[in-house]
Amino acid sequence: MPVKNVEGPAGDPESAFFSLYRTSGMDDAAIDQFRRIIWDYYRTSGRPMAWRETTDPYRIYVSEVMLQQTQVERVNTKYPEFIAAFPDFSSLAGAPLGDILRVWQGMGYNRRAKLMKAAAERIVSEFGGNLPRDVATLRTLPGLGSATAASVAAFAYNTPVVFIETNIRRVFIHFFFGEREDVADSEILPLVERSLDWINPREWYYALMDYGAMLKQKVKNPNLRSTAYKRQSTFEGSSRQVRGKILRLLLDGGPTDKETIICMVADEKGRTETIIGELIAEGFLEEVEDGTIRIPD
Ligand code: ADE
Repeated sequence: MPVKNVEGPAGDPESAFFSLYRTSGMDDAAIDQFRRIIWDYYRTSGRPMAWRETTDPYRIYVSEVMLQQTQVERVNTKYPEFIAAFPDFSSLAGAPLGDILRVWQGMGYNRRAKLMKAAAERIVSEFGGNLPRDVATLRTLPGLGSATAASVAAFAYNTPVVFIETNIRRVFIHFFFGEREDVADSEILPLVERSLDWINPREWYYALMDYGAMLKQKVKNPNLRSTAYKRQSTFEGSSRQVRGKILRLLLDGGPTDKETIICMVADEKGRTETIIGELIAEGFLEEVEDGTIRIPD
């Protein structure tokens, strides 16, 4: 079915694609042209990233968890620090939580660091320190949702899995959904499958992600028209910010009593108490007999 589309501002290759797609709709020629545009862009403008220089499953795993909710620029600086501190699953599994959180500082969403330790413990105890290859098994590891399990399989093992993440979604909505609103991932997935490079899925997905990152600068975010679109909540004044402050306080200052924490966080007392309680329940903090709060070993 031919679909109306605005001419892409990203240049001639897109215009040629859109005029073909408008007249002929979704056929092999459109897929071929789409592939060519994405590969051509990658050849000239692919982004170098340290985790693309390796196929070490541990390193790929760390980078993909980091990239779930943190921008590439920040991961670029944190990733080498993290790998130097914890070079493999067994060092991560054996490290005290506080040491991991200390290196993680600045990344946000600290739960990821804790889940990585839990995943590393399972990988060591159940899989001999080797990251499983199978996506269904990867999916059972703490902190790995279906998209991250698939991206790890694609990047670590070059497995031709079909998945969507934010940059990939942006590319497909831009090319194939015209001005449609409320595009569901279930509509995008068949296109991801149809256009997949089955020989070199690893680089194909790098290329898609790079194109998606470029589009962000060039067009109104196509992901606003996705049913999966979620804005990242505002950090300033959020519980997430208070969580971060409490953890930083204890990482820097060691065990501290509750009243001092409440005073130093300088947020509403009731909310700080609730968050301390949540952090204890989640295992980020523990209360010692003398009433002080600390990060467990
Ligand atoms: N390259 C490899 N993984 C990536 C990701 N998750 N986001 C952007 N670029 C990547």
